[in-house]
Amino acid sequence: MIRPFSFPDLDSILQIESQSFPKSPYDWTTFLNLHTLYPETFLVYVNKNRGGTEEEIVGYIIFDQDGHIISIAVHARYRRKGVGGKLLQRAMEAPQRNRVWAEVRRSNHGAQAFYSKMGFKITGLIPNYYGNEDALIIQWTPAIHKSY
Ligand SMILES: CC(C)(COP(=O)(O)OP(=O)(O)OC[C@H]1O[C@@H](n2cnc3c(N)ncnc32)[C@H](O)[C@@H]1OP(=O)(O)O)[C@@H](O)C(=O)NCCC(=O)NCCS
Repeated sequence: MIRPFSFPDLDSILQIESQSFPKSPYDWTTFLNLHTLYPETFLVYVNKNRGGTEEEIVGYIIFDQDGHIISIAVHARYRRKGVGGKLLQRAMEAPQRNRVWAEVRRSNHGAQAFYSKMGFKITGLIPNYYGNEDALIIQWTPAIHKSY
C-alpha cells in the first residue's frame, strides 16, 4: 500500500535513510520541511499485517510537481521486490507528466541500474554536485518510455 507520509512514520524513514544514504542522509528537520513542501507527493510504501492493525514502512519517495525526484529509498531487507518500482511509478503516472528526472551519484550503480530498468536515460552530468562526486542526471519521458 502506498499512502502520503505522516509524522509517526518519521522514525522508520530515518532508519531507511541512514542505511540508504550513509554519506549524506537527510535529517528529521529536512524530512519535515519536505513534508510541508510536498504533502501529497511525499509517499511511503507500507506493509500491513493480516488484520491490517500494524504497519511497517519499507520505502519512501518524494517528488515535486515538475517530476523531479527529490529522494527515493527502500529498506535494505525489502529491495529487489518491486517496492522502488511501484513508488517511482507514482511519479511517472501523474497526469500531464512530461518528464521525470533525478540526480544520481556516479558511484551509485545500483540506482542507475534501477532507473535504467524503469526506462530512464542518462541526459547530463553535474560536476562535484555531491562535493567531491559528480551527479548523473537521469530522465524519463513518456515518449522514451514507449520506445524502450
Ligand atoms: C534504488 C532503490 C530505490 C531500488 O528499490 P528496489 O525496491 O530494490 O527496486 P525494484 O525491486 O523495484 O527494482 C526493479 C528493477 O530495477 C533493477 N535494480 C534495482 N536495484 C538494482 C541493483 N542494486 N542492481 C542492479 N539492478 C537493480 C532490477 O532490474 C530490478 O528488477 P529485478 O529485481 O526483477 O531484477 C533501492 O535499491 C535503494 O533504496 N537504494 C538506496 C537508495 C538509493 O540509491 N536511492 C536512489 C538515489 S537517486
